[in-house]
Amino acid sequence: MKIGVTGATGQLGRIVIEKLKAKVAAENIVALVRSPQKAAALGIEAREFDYSKPENLAAALAGIEKLLVISSNEVGQRAVQHTNVVEAAKKAGVKFITYTSLLRADTSTLSLAEEHLVTEKAIKESGITYTILRNGWYTENYTGSIGGVLAAGAVIGASGEGKISSATRADFAEAAVVVLTTAGHENKTYDLAGDEAYTMTEYAAEISRQTGKNIPYKNLTAVEYANVLVQAGLPEGVAQFLAGTQPPTEKGDLCDDTHQLSKLIGRPTTTLKEAIATALKA
Ligand SMILES: NC(=O)c1ccc[n+]([C@@H]2O[C@H](COP(=O)([O-])OP(=O)(O)OC[C@H]3O[C@@H](n4cnc5c(N)ncnc54)[C@H](OP(=O)(O)O)[C@@H]3O)[C@@H](O)[C@H]2O)c1
Repeated sequence: MKIGVTGATGQLGRIVIEKLKAKVAAENIVALVRSPQKAAALGIEAREFDYSKPENLAAALAGIEKLLVISSNEVGQRAVQHTNVVEAAKKAGVKFITYTSLLRADTSTLSLAEEHLVTEKAIKESGITYTILRNGWYTENYTGSIGGVLAAGAVIGASGEGKISSATRADFAEAAVVVLTTAGHENKTYDLAGDEAYTMTEYAAEISRQTGKNIPYKNLTAVEYANVLVQAGLPEGVAQFLAGTQPPTEKGDLCDDTHQLSKLIGRPTTTLKEAIATALKA
């Protein structure tokens, strides 16, 4: 029984492989990646697998029984790319697919939701047994720029007092491993998020507490925020995308109190306090 993991050379994928290797023999795990060379350090078989090359995908899935599809980071191309993968899985006789979607993809006002919904639909229509992992925001989306926050002396955003139930990549990766290695998740959709919800004001307060510095949260309008990001050197498109996530965040689209992630992984999710401490040590 082989398990295939796409996106295995990405940040989430690498953690999934590490955790999967603790549960499944390495020879039964296959990294399905754009660059097998880049996957060499994973210590498992790596096959070339580019979502945008549909002609090669089914052959690369030979012998794969369970497949984790980690969503592509090529926003705008993902509906086509993921549909290619689902069609190839069907052709190759894959028995189970699990996919990293977006928290409440069916009702979220984040622009990202649309491509995830198309993918979910393609998976359900394929007739392959599935589990949809609707992942909320990564805590690292925030803690990844903690150095910039300290340099600027403030957390900057435009999400007001919107609450965010983020979780670390490691917690989401663990959920994927649970679904790949245990029964009872067939044809289920999980909305996954951290146990704790916080605002950007609370995020800034925790950084202040841990560093002993006064780091306030400065709330801007989405337009002002995009301008600040461009001034900081981000490409215009990225700045607009990030600014566009702020109104849905303020509305609560990244907040969830159902605790499905901690139930799935059998322990509380990593706290914001721990994630900030880890980021400050890095
Ligand atoms: N929940 C969140 O907060 C959040 C935040 C950011 C992204 N995401 C989504 O979650 C996914 C995983 O997160 P991450 O942090 O691991 O992102 P990441 O580090 O950017 O990894 C993305 C992975 O997708 C692969 N990929 C991109 N285009 C591909 C293609 N055409 N064919 C095959 N593989 C392709 C990349 O391959 P290479 O290694 O070859 O580059 C990489 O392994 C992202 O791709 C995105 O869809 C979620």
